[in-house]
Amino acid sequence: MAEFKVIGVIGAGQMGSGIAQLAAVAGADVRLLDKDAQALLSAKRSISDSVQRFVSKGQLSKEVGADAVARVKYTSNLEDLQSADIVIEAIVESEDVKKKLFSELDKIVKQSAILASNTSSISITRLASATKRPHQVIGMHFMNPPPIMKLVEIIRGADTSDNTFNATKTLAERFGKTVVCSQDYAGFIVNRILMPMINEAFYTLYTGVATKEDIDAGMKLGTNQPMGPLQLADFIGLDVCLSILKVLHSGLGDPKYTPCPLLVQYVDAGRLGKKRGVGVYNYR
Ligand code: CAA
Ligand code: NAD
Repeated sequence: MAEFKVIGVIGAGQMGSGIAQLAAVAGADVRLLDKDAQALLSAKRSISDSVQRFVSKGQLSKEVGADAVARVKYTSNLEDLQSADIVIEAIVESEDVKKKLFSELDKIVKQSAILASNTSSISITRLASATKRPHQVIGMHFMNPPPIMKLVEIIRGADTSDNTFNATKTLAERFGKTVVCSQDYAGFIVNRILMPMINEAFYTLYTGVATKEDIDAGMKLGTNQPMGPLQLADFIGLDVCLSILKVLHSGLGDPKYTPCPLLVQYVDAGRLGKKRGVGVYNYR
């Protein structure tokens, strides 16, 4: 069974920074890569803040917290991932961009390394086809925010081996997560069900059924969810929601997944949600 002493994470946005934190707290040496230097700086701040929240609540000792923060090394150079035992990719939700990265990674990382994707919806089988190691490619789908949410969804591609599956499941459990397994179909389990609800919330707003506040309060208080669906969409990122809906629409071929024009318009306008300070709501 792989030990995963060195864990590479690619994409230092909301998800990659949280995944890097989990890996560091679990005792791995982490290489967090992003092409954008500003993203690396923000990730460093967010990891330190988040670890501090666990320390101040007594859920992590000061020493383990400080050790975890020091275990994350930040880079923009793919070669720095050469020693990784597993690389978890969390870049933009685009099949073409992810495939290009997987093809490059395949040439750089050691032969035994696993390539995992945190994709929300894209076919693991197709990502694996960009590499010469399809048996070592797997979906490892964390929920946002990774340090808090208890689930990891694992998706096997057509050629993922039992060894790769077992090692990845063990790693997720070492991070303190519960694992569910999905077949490799667009959106897997969570987003197959969550995104149609979020899309319907946009249609409810778009067709004037209710205000955004009432839609969110209705679902939050009426169905006991921690956030209303529009607030959750802002939290996930409207660009991410739209990309997932497009994968569901093209992958499953059903018009019921057609992204709401209002969601499309917000993304076109750069209103990407909380991370940009404005989405359905204004956070500035
Ligand atoms: N690091 C450390 N601690 C954090 C944290 C972080 N990143 N984010 C929140 N917390 C802690 C807070 O310190 C707080 O702790 P206490 O209760 O002990 O004070 C606790 O979590 C709750 O946080 P807040 O009080 O700030 O706010 P909240 O009560 O609204 O909780 C939330 C925040 C946990 C995000 C909650 O609103 C929630 O669960 N929302 C729904 C999240 C969700 O559904 N995520 C899945 C999205 S789908 C997905 O991820 C898949 C995909 O592919 C799109
Ligand atoms: P994000 O926009 O916050 O961060 C993405 C990061 O990837 C950015 O910092 C960007 O600079 C970097 N990046 C993009 N292309 C790159 C490349 N070729 N090489 C290196 N870095 C690159 O996005 P996010 O919300 O963290 O989502 C990342 C992935 O995780 C997506 O596949 C998304 O579907 C998935 N995901 C998102 C959520 C969520 O709630 N946001 C939840 C689960 C899974």
